[in-house]
Amino acid sequence: MSFSRSLLILISVLMVSCANHNSNSSDEQLYGEVKLDTSDPRFAAAYAVLRNRCASCHEHAAWSSYVSDALWISKSNAVVKNNASASSMIQQIQMGFMPQNGSMPSSETQLLVDWINNMP
Ligand code: HEC
Repeated sequence: MSFSRSLLILISVLMVSCANHNSNSSDEQLYGEVKLDTSDPRFAAAYAVLRNRCASCHEHAAWSSYVSDALWISKSNAVVKNNASASSMIQQIQMGFMPQNGSMPSSETQLLVDWINNMP
């Protein structure tokens, strides 16, 4: 199955499952059962951005299951610890490629940059 085809199927599945959730979510509802690592104080805010802006498409890479800095660094291939400008996550956003078919406020990009650059 081609990548775009599996992506399409994935998106449809997600849309169905998202329909059951309240879109006016508080943080608690947003994270659902996900238990985030709280040792990095900036992580929760960054995770919320990634969840809202990216995970709908990047679920195939299990992005929303990366519940700690360590997982982002070791598994995502998109984060270089303490080096936002070398992180493809940030490069893709700053080049305007991501979020694909959309945009996001620079304040949210900044949350991601601050998170990566200040990882303990
Ligand atoms: C509408 C779907 C969609 C959204 C939303 C989206 N992406 Fe992507 N992204 C893709 C697709 C499809 C690819 C692979 C094809 C390509 O490189 O163009 C990709 C590739 C990437 C890559 C390079 C390959 C990888 O997986 O490491 C990065 C980094 C990335 N996206 C980051 C992001 C970030 C950060 C966000 C949220 C701010 C985001 N994307 C939101 C669809 C999306």
